[in-house]
Amino acid sequence: MALPKINPTTTTAWKNLQDHFSTVKDTHIKTLFAQDKERVNKMTITWEDFYLDFSKNRITDKTMGLLQDLARQVELKEAIDAYFSGAEINETEKRAVLHTALRAKETETVLVNGKNVIPEVYAVKNKIKTFSDAVIKGDKKGSTGKAFTDIVNIGIGGSDLGPAMVVDSLQYYKNHLNTHFVSNVDGDHVNEVLKKINPETTLFVIVSKTFTTQETLSNATTIKNWFLKSLDEEAVAQHFVAVSTNIEKVQGFGIDANNIFPMWDWVGGRFSLWSAVGLTISLSLGFDNFDKLLQGANAMDIHFKEAPFDKNIPVVLALISVWYNNFFNAETEAIIPYSQYLNQFATYLQQGIMESNGKGVDRNGNPVNYQTGTIIWGEPGTNSQHAFFQLIHQGTKLIPADFIGFAKSLHGDKDHQDKLISNFIAQTEALMNGKTSDEVLSELKDKNLSEEEISKVLPYKVFEGNKPTNTLFISQLTPESLGKLIAMYEHKIFVQGVIWNIFSYDQFGVELGKQLAGNILKNIQGDTFMNHDDSTLNLLGYYKELT
Ligand code: F6P
Repeated sequence: MALPKINPTTTTAWKNLQDHFSTVKDTHIKTLFAQDKERVNKMTITWEDFYLDFSKNRITDKTMGLLQDLARQVELKEAIDAYFSGAEINETEKRAVLHTALRAKETETVLVNGKNVIPEVYAVKNKIKTFSDAVIKGDKKGSTGKAFTDIVNIGIGGSDLGPAMVVDSLQYYKNHLNTHFVSNVDGDHVNEVLKKINPETTLFVIVSKTFTTQETLSNATTIKNWFLKSLDEEAVAQHFVAVSTNIEKVQGFGIDANNIFPMWDWVGGRFSLWSAVGLTISLSLGFDNFDKLLQGANAMDIHFKEAPFDKNIPVVLALISVWYNNFFNAETEAIIPYSQYLNQFATYLQQGIMESNGKGVDRNGNPVNYQTGTIIWGEPGTNSQHAFFQLIHQGTKLIPADFIGFAKSLHGDKDHQDKLISNFIAQTEALMNGKTSDEVLSELKDKNLSEEEISKVLPYKVFEGNKPTNTLFISQLTPESLGKLIAMYEHKIFVQGVIWNIFSYDQFGVELGKQLAGNILKNIQGDTFMNHDDSTLNLLGYYKELT
């Protein structure tokens, strides 16, 4: 069962949305609230510990109805069934897309080429549990008999961003082990980490699905050479483990077969934190918390599979995003978590969203004639309020934003939490309402400014408002709720890819970069500068002269 291959712009829903857009594009959200007293009730979804309010958007009931028609006309339901069933929906790489199987219940059956993969998934989960329990308790020791104190995760892209984001986001739940991440091929990155660790008490986790990635292999080699200055080759087996599909290459690197945690080609790198790629998560937070993260994601999977489109959180978010991207021509979306713990969340989603849906050729092999993947960016509130919010409030660009907040804080400081949530709520209200010139005028009059002073400053203090936001209120940041949140965005990515008729699960653009860097390196380390334009030749010459 392949994904449908329908150009969305050929559907009647798309044409109806275009007509509808011309009638609503200038309507202010404030007017929409005034016209419909039931708006909030209709535009909120409560599901488990999630509360989504999407009423502060430039949409009406009709908009949502037409967007759902679009979803039906591109056969979203059939596509969801194909996604969960293990069909080869990653057609360009001839693979299934089954990160959902990694968090499925043990009793489920998920077939890949006729074979149920759930027993293998659970065998690896058990291996992760046994290993992380032993390291955390100090039963598994380093080669000189000392318990481990530090973990170094070596990987890049999906083999780094997911584990790094989760460990940072859930640091409240962390155990005594110090966790470090080395990703960049920039040698200063690895050397800064090496300054902080002792080889005798450090466990190195090399994560690379392919085990061919330049950055990861360079960092792993540098670390191994550094390690061998203090300990001998035999000690490598006790200090180095790997997560990979490429068992042969891992063994070639000198890692013991027992220290390999397998993964599968049906897990895409940017969706792999649920697999053994999450080993560092399990080591840092304990297996139970890792498992709770998976359970949360599984609950979101079930919601996504079963809820009708109008009550389906990932579907609603994806449709609203398509509305802004393809009809309002908004280019970017901001993700603003009101939690300092989610500091790395937007960075993590940049890979998930932009590597998946940054595509310009449709599923029929034709260039698309409409916009696809949105540009994602963001930082936690309230810090971002003091950085880029000015442009969202008063700039010339339309920037839809997701506001994500947690009702209860983890440390329970009520005063701070009240202030944080006041900002969280106040910003979406201000972005929607703006401030009219009458309101500014009366404010300035209250300050006893002269007529002349008032007329000079007034235009700059007016806010047009009408800036769209989604508010996602979650009870508390826990491993389960984080699992749900990540899975929510994964499914939003899927829905948008289906609507845009693109393949969301390959990344040929990134692979081009890998090849090109290899060619330039040969030129830098050799003597010949072949096949380059003049600018590139000059840059190569400049670098060689300086070094
Ligand atoms: O960034 C591109 C990519 O191919 C990602 O999809 C992947 O997460 C990353 O490179 C790392 O690849 P590997 O896990 O094979 O080292």
